[in-house]
Amino acid sequence: MTPQHTHPALPPGVTTLADHERHARGVLDEASWAYLFGAAADELTFARNIEAWRALELLPRVLKPLAGGHTRVELLGRTFAHPILVAPMAHQRLAHPDGEHATALAAAALGAGLVFSTQASAPLDEIAARFLPEPGRGPLWFQLYLQPDRGFTAELVQRAEAAGFEALVLTVDAPVQGARDSERRSGFRLPAGIGAVNLTGLRHPPPRTLAAGQSALFDDLLTHAPGWDDVAWLRSITRLPVLLKGVLHPDDARQAVACGASGLIVSNHGGRTLDTAITTANALPRIAQAVQGDLPLLVDGGIRRGTDVLKAIGLGASAVLVGRPVLHGLATAGATGVAHVLRLLRDELEIAMALTGCRTLAEATTVLAPTGR
Ligand code: FNR
Ligand code: LAC
Repeated sequence: MTPQHTHPALPPGVTTLADHERHARGVLDEASWAYLFGAAADELTFARNIEAWRALELLPRVLKPLAGGHTRVELLGRTFAHPILVAPMAHQRLAHPDGEHATALAAAALGAGLVFSTQASAPLDEIAARFLPEPGRGPLWFQLYLQPDRGFTAELVQRAEAAGFEALVLTVDAPVQGARDSERRSGFRLPAGIGAVNLTGLRHPPPRTLAAGQSALFDDLLTHAPGWDDVAWLRSITRLPVLLKGVLHPDDARQAVACGASGLIVSNHGGRTLDTAITTANALPRIAQAVQGDLPLLVDGGIRRGTDVLKAIGLGASAVLVGRPVLHGLATAGATGVAHVLRLLRDELEIAMALTGCRTLAEATTVLAPTGR
């Protein structure tokens, strides 16, 4: 069933992304907040992601011709209006009853890309049907968690392909969930009626009987974890391009190129998996250097301002994904809130380009200040 859509006005005083966050805090219960906005362990990577973009300085140029400038970007052979995509995020109906439907509606209207999570709380075909008809839309990609049941995984990929998704984003940084302390402390459980509806019918392998001294993690769960061979397998069962999400080491980036990946998302899962993992602003330049333009790079984690988007592109990304701020907007005002968040980021990006003297995103590489170290 398609939810009824409400388009509430923005609450008074909600002007920035930070206002959306503050407002969302007031409308969500403690456990949903902990799941949606928590991170792993001491949440250091989560906080450092944000701080790392903020700490980079811009070195603007003046009096340059700016007329006719634009934010256009080419990704996987198609041109889009701007380089902002919504990151894949599970269970969006926790943030607002309209959930993924509202996010898709807003992203399509704002020309933003949408990466739809395997663990979404709305049917993949309904979201594709909502997103694809919008003429000015961005890319529509399906985020995949490889399931132990590879037969089911193959069928899921076929369903995504048939629905019109244009690429697969294989998430490789979460073979096990991180130690999400705030979530556990809150006693978070998915409420009745919200679940991973696209995984209905998935068979879970029976737990193994472990001998004394064996580990439930290493000797059971991780025996089903994906490896590089599975990237090749995935490529063999789909005609869609396959991007890898969650790459931080330059050697893994090189291996991804060798495996025929069509793109990489430099990501630490927004600090939700390994705490104290390198920030994405720090990881990105080394990966850009390692792959030398062999495939498109995207980045996520801590992008909160248009200046952050410009910096990410200046360090070698083609585009960025935005996670939590989208859910702040969703919790605050459904589709209207998400649209506002995306609009703010795009407007801020244009302003940042104009004020640094960039007519196109290709010039972003020239406006980062030397670090002075
Ligand atoms: C996520 N993320 C995520 N990633 C993924 O590949 N599959 C998923 O299902 C999810 N689910 C998910 C749920 C929630 C509530 C959050 C906050 C995040 C990670 C996400 O795609 C992205 O990497 C980070 O959120 C980016 O960091 P920021 O923008 O939130 O700081
Ligand atoms: C998360 C999983 C779903 O970060 O990727 O919650």
